Amino acid sequence: MITLQEQKTPLKGEMFVPGDKSISHRSIMFASLAQGTSQITGFLEGADCISTINCFKSLGILIEKSSGNVNGVPTITVHGQGLHGLKAPSTTLYTGNSGTTTRLMAGILAAQNFDSVITGDASIVTRPMNRIIKPLTTMGASIKSEKDNGCCPLHIEGGKSLRGISYHSPVASAQVKSCILLAGLYASGDTVVHEPALSRNHTEIMLRAFGADIHNDVTRYGPSASILHPGMPLFGRKVNVPGDISSAAYFIAAACLIPGSELLIRNVGINKTRAGILAVLKQMGADITLLNEDNDMEPKADILVKYSELHGGNNGIYEISGKLVPAMIDELPIMAVVAANADCTTIIKDAAELKVKESNRINSIVENLKKMGADIEATDDGMIIHGGKKLHGATINPYNDHRIAMAFTIASMIATGDTIIEQEECVNISYPTFFKDIEKIKQ
Ligand code: S3P
Repeated sequence: MITLQEQKTPLKGEMFVPGDKSISHRSIMFASLAQGTSQITGFLEGADCISTINCFKSLGILIEKSSGNVNGVPTITVHGQGLHGLKAPSTTLYTGNSGTTTRLMAGILAAQNFDSVITGDASIVTRPMNRIIKPLTTMGASIKSEKDNGCCPLHIEGGKSLRGISYHSPVASAQVKSCILLAGLYASGDTVVHEPALSRNHTEIMLRAFGADIHNDVTRYGPSASILHPGMPLFGRKVNVPGDISSAAYFIAAACLIPGSELLIRNVGINKTRAGILAVLKQMGADITLLNEDNDMEPKADILVKYSELHGGNNGIYEISGKLVPAMIDELPIMAVVAANADCTTIIKDAAELKVKESNRINSIVENLKKMGADIEATDDGMIIHGGKKLHGATINPYNDHRIAMAFTIASMIATGDTIIEQEECVNISYPTFFKDIEKIKQ
């Protein structure tokens, strides 16, 4: 539990945020399946990515942390063993709180010649796994939910021959897409994953950089399908992980909301499938400029953000829906905090996926923002926020969800009175230095 005192200190200066969580997970996984050594800089040492490292160590991969570092972050060296070099684990693979570790690794394990069991913490064992069990089973895998409830623990039987499929995913989920594409590396024939809207495409970008034959065919399948042609080996390489836009989002929002703020956040990933929050904030009138744009595997830039008043559209209503939702799914908690302070009504819809994240985020956002005095109501697939009501301090229950704890820490910075954040240590999942970094940029 942490008590945050009332204050409206502007945020000023320059900062880095930790490495991108999605890209960090994938760097360990793909480097493990590659031939030769990979060096990863900017890796996120958050609890989720450490779960991925520990699982791949249990699968026989040597992963080392260098004593030297770049910008205070150690380089990780992965001694890949090739697509067929993983070893049977001697125990259950424990994925902690990490949906990405659980679902992506399941796709890899479904194609191995040994049996394995995956499970995680109290949140993971409630999150839906039928979304990967179904397509993996269609590919010929044997994967069973131990309690027959569509959740972890998952028992995966090895020694199955997989075949490529053309799968129309009912949800825009990069975890589902990546799981199927990774199984597709081992399948006979092509694997095609179609999504209702394009989810983050880090798997496609990084697998291609490691040597896989993965592409899209917009004329034939439209913009939200990925095609994997198996048979190409992966080769070890260098990976520079950019700063996580999902972590930067808390500071971008805070600088937009606290008068007098001016913040430069260096080296942040701005991949279009992730940068929905920037587009929305700009449309609401935020003063955000991208500097020093660069495209080394993934697009990145320095983000300069200055305080400005936020508003809705012409009729005072702003809608976040459709294809925009997957491009900012993890930023919806902080977006709701921003919306509660903007001079408009914000409607978030098509976002039922929020219910199956680390917590039920529709409930955890609405309950906690109501406690702070916001005018907000939950809907079946999102929420409606009537902005402009003054927030006051409250005791926040983040339901052990890192993104809720961080979003409400920012809410406390614009509220009157003190705010208590319970279970604040859950920020370690994606941003262990979050509270320290805030102190560094308060003027
Ligand atoms: C992630 C994908 C998203 C996101 C999660 C990380 C990934 O989940 O919410 O934090 O690394 O692939 P879904 O793919 O289930 O939407």
